[in-house]
Amino acid sequence: MRDRLKKIWPEIEWIKDVDLKEKVYQVWEYALEQSVLSPEDLLEIPFTLLIEDCKVTFMEHKRAVVHIAVEAAKVMERFFGEKLPINKDHLISGAILIDVGKLIEYAREEGEVVVGTRGKLLRHPFTGVGLAMRFGVPDEVCHMIATHSQEGDLGKRTTESIIIHHADFLSFEPFKADTLRI
Ligand SMILES: [Fe+2]
Repeated sequence: MRDRLKKIWPEIEWIKDVDLKEKVYQVWEYALEQSVLSPEDLLEIPFTLLIEDCKVTFMEHKRAVVHIAVEAAKVMERFFGEKLPINKDHLISGAILIDVGKLIEYAREEGEVVVGTRGKLLRHPFTGVGLAMRFGVPDEVCHMIATHSQEGDLGKRTTESIIIHHADFLSFEPFKADTLRI
């Protein structure tokens, strides 16, 4: 599983902290073992079931979020430096883990991938935190999983979580049906 995971997720190697990197691998491996989806399915399935006829794949969306977050952090560091500390390892790990809960949100019904009962009861920010805590992912990173989506609007986000939240929406909102197209 590790080799197949590395193929779809080369960005996990960007994490410098060896212990944290290993935990991120373990969370994803475990989630894939519990999932109706294989690593290869993630290269094919649409990244959301909320958009009709979505052509962007799960991994295209996921990897774009990591790249946007890292590039945004670089610009912020260039301009703000020590005035706005950003933990890059936490940022990368969070960006890679925010949607890991989706792997156990989905079920297969007559060959179709749909949101299953678990996914309806517990959206992926909740199951994602459950998966990450099981492998000792630090609270700062679990916070990003918990708050990356609309659920996080009710509380406060760290700097890293604000970056990820916006990176996530940058690679989601333009694909929505209500985007102005001229
Ligand atoms: Fe998400």
